Amino acid sequence: AFNLRNRNFLTLMDFSAKEIHYLLDLAAELKRAKYAGTEQPRLSKKNIVILFEKDSTRTRCSFEVAALDQGAHVTYLGPTGSQMGKKESIADTARVLGRIYDGIEYRGFDQKVVEDLAAYSGVPVWNGLTDADHPTQVLADFLTAQEHLHKPYNQMVFVYVGDGRNNVANALMIGAAKLGMDFRIVAPEGLFPSDRLVEQCRQLAEGSGAKITITPDIAAGVVNADVLYTDVWVSMGEPDAVWEQRINLLQLYQVNSRMLAMTYNQNVIFEHCLPAFHDLNTQIGKEIHRKFGLTAMEVTDEVFEGPHSVVFDEAENRLHTIKAVMVATLGN
Ligand code: CP
Ligand code: NVA
Repeated sequence: AFNLRNRNFLTLMDFSAKEIHYLLDLAAELKRAKYAGTEQPRLSKKNIVILFEKDSTRTRCSFEVAALDQGAHVTYLGPTGSQMGKKESIADTARVLGRIYDGIEYRGFDQKVVEDLAAYSGVPVWNGLTDADHPTQVLADFLTAQEHLHKPYNQMVFVYVGDGRNNVANALMIGAAKLGMDFRIVAPEGLFPSDRLVEQCRQLAEGSGAKITITPDIAAGVVNADVLYTDVWVSMGEPDAVWEQRINLLQLYQVNSRMLAMTYNQNVIFEHCLPAFHDLNTQIGKEIHRKFGLTAMEVTDEVFEGPHSVVFDEAENRLHTIKAVMVATLGN
């Protein structure tokens, strides 16, 4: 079997296709065990700290419940309340936490921070989202696709529509390139992923059989999609001033019933990492509605609530996949 013990989980770039398959299989196995009531704790006596410099519902709760299910103890540190980044450097914080804890989760801004935590702490570090990457999300997205599509990953047509240079788009492209998918980013040219990352993924694709397409053309981009995926138009940490420009750029790229029909696949599934602006009945949503007159942003309520949507299975799978990452890297 595979040994991922003591490895960091900073980006899927660091993992082979076999290792990613192993994590996905382990997640499915842990999910079955939890449902059957036969889960064995493999993290007992472990102490885990989860650091969040940005907000979170799914990722935080998944790390906490996954740890508790597996017998570990958890400390949550939020954007305020610790010395990190204010009085104390990341390197010093990492060395302290590494003496006290067996594993560290980090969500924040710069990918360099999660890399430094890994370099200095001496314990496994897990990336719970940075500006550049969101690798635990991709495991949940792929597992969910597998559960619904029942076909090998390298036969999936996986289409991401929207802001093509955010953390989720980057992370999906890396994962898809590793696993050999037909992967497409459908976005306006101003929101294409970086040339450097596309180049790296195309190189991976040569080995895996993946096909990486970046296109502004919706019809060509979504045809035959097995998975249609979108994410918010403005990510955490971006200034409020970008909303207007993003809405103008991305309005045409909203996932709606018309776009679903353009896949010509009756069995297409809709995925979204969440949170989603499918109606605008939230604090930020209401502000957007007031300012721009929209009723939905990246996905319509009809699609979000409709029969193709698997978004809550996907959200649940954050728990099982994050558990797999912790068990594989830290488990007994
Ligand atoms: N998908 C995701 O990471 O959600 P949270 O921001 O709620 O953790
Ligand atoms: N791209 C989004 C993902 C949230 C899970 C963000 O970074 O805000």
